[in-house]
Amino acid sequence: MKIASNELQALQPARPLAFDVGRLRGDFPILARRVHGQPLVYLDNAATSQKPRAVVDAEARYYAEYNANIHRGLHCLSEEATAAYEAARDRVQRFVNAARREEIVFVRGTTEAINLVAASYGQRLRPGDEILISAMEHHSNIVPWQLLCERSGARLCVAPIDDAGQLRLDEFERLLGPRTRLVAVTHVSNALGSINPVAELVALAHAHGAAVLVDGAQAVPHLKVDVQALDCDFYAFSGHKLYGPTGVGVLYGKAALLDAMPPWQGGGDMIRQVSFARTTYNDLPYKFEAGTPNIAGGIGLGAAIDYVDALGLDAVAAHERDLLAYATARAADTPGLRLIGTAAAKAGILSFVVDGVHAHDVGTILDRAGVAVRSGHHCAMPVMERFGVPATVRASFALYNTRAEVDALFAALARVREVFA
Ligand SMILES: Cc1ncc(COP(=O)(O)O)c(C=O)c1O
Repeated sequence: MKIASNELQALQPARPLAFDVGRLRGDFPILARRVHGQPLVYLDNAATSQKPRAVVDAEARYYAEYNANIHRGLHCLSEEATAAYEAARDRVQRFVNAARREEIVFVRGTTEAINLVAASYGQRLRPGDEILISAMEHHSNIVPWQLLCERSGARLCVAPIDDAGQLRLDEFERLLGPRTRLVAVTHVSNALGSINPVAELVALAHAHGAAVLVDGAQAVPHLKVDVQALDCDFYAFSGHKLYGPTGVGVLYGKAALLDAMPPWQGGGDMIRQVSFARTTYNDLPYKFEAGTPNIAGGIGLGAAIDYVDALGLDAVAAHERDLLAYATARAADTPGLRLIGTAAAKAGILSFVVDGVHAHDVGTILDRAGVAVRSGHHCAMPVMERFGVPATVRASFALYNTRAEVDALFAALARVREVFA
């Protein structure tokens, strides 16, 4: 079960030079550490991914060299900070291929992006209107809509999933009706790994006159996302799952929609003119960015995107597909292990239960072996209910993981069987 770092490297599958896992692991300082005396095998990337030194350095450089508030100062440091922060916005725009930089709103993360749309766009919903989500959503893409339904009198409709964890397209289409105002679906399920056919869902929703928000939290680190090709109205994601800092994320929205939406928070930066009689609001995207933002985080996110772009998301996706296929094959050979989520189109997430052993016990034993996974409901309780399990163990892969780490996971799982035999 003990695997030394040099062995991990020796077991690397052959890769083209452009995507050399052994080399790029060196970019992530944390991967060199040990946990409980074992080399860290970090497989909790769907919760948050580790950060390359370029991201850590970009944040540190901001604080050490040009820390200042942005947009308001005329002094040199403020101008440098503003330029760096706004350059990060340009990077995000290119990364998701948004038509205009004003369509990129910086927020705290996916959760805040969805709440922004619910609070602002949601004001146009009326009693009897419908919001359609899927049965595989993260709580962040359920609860804001429930709150909106309580406020507006709208109704929440849920498209079911099949036994493999795939959205039932027939049911999704059947649930789209004349009262459907908004569809909110995840691009990739965090609990199952299923990839939804988002472009198809958007086309169906638009044919019924509904706007579409896509929760891209689990997609942007693994798939090339083109918001114009998807034609979605809103796209939300978090920096910290994309090798960037915590506390920063993005809401993409089509400019015409954002323009027509009221602000959701009031404060500095989101205004043009304030008097006690009347306040007018700033242009996009600042209308939605009240108060001092996470400046270091935004700059760090820009650095994270540069890092991922340099590797190429296609190469990252191919590598992660290889890991998923390898892990899935190993799971099939493991007695007592049942996969939860076997969609034909899947991102690098392996969710499973072990017969007779609670997921938390599995997670604890894996941790002692240095293997970090997530055990629980993954903020997707309805998914657990759908599959009749209280919790699953989830191993989720990132660009720096290796087949040897998958072997370490299964070696530790063998230990679980010994302990509970
Ligand atoms: C699919 C999905 N949506 C939304 C979120 C919420 O992201 P955050 O906590 O960064 O706002 C997560 C986080 O795990 C997620 O996996």
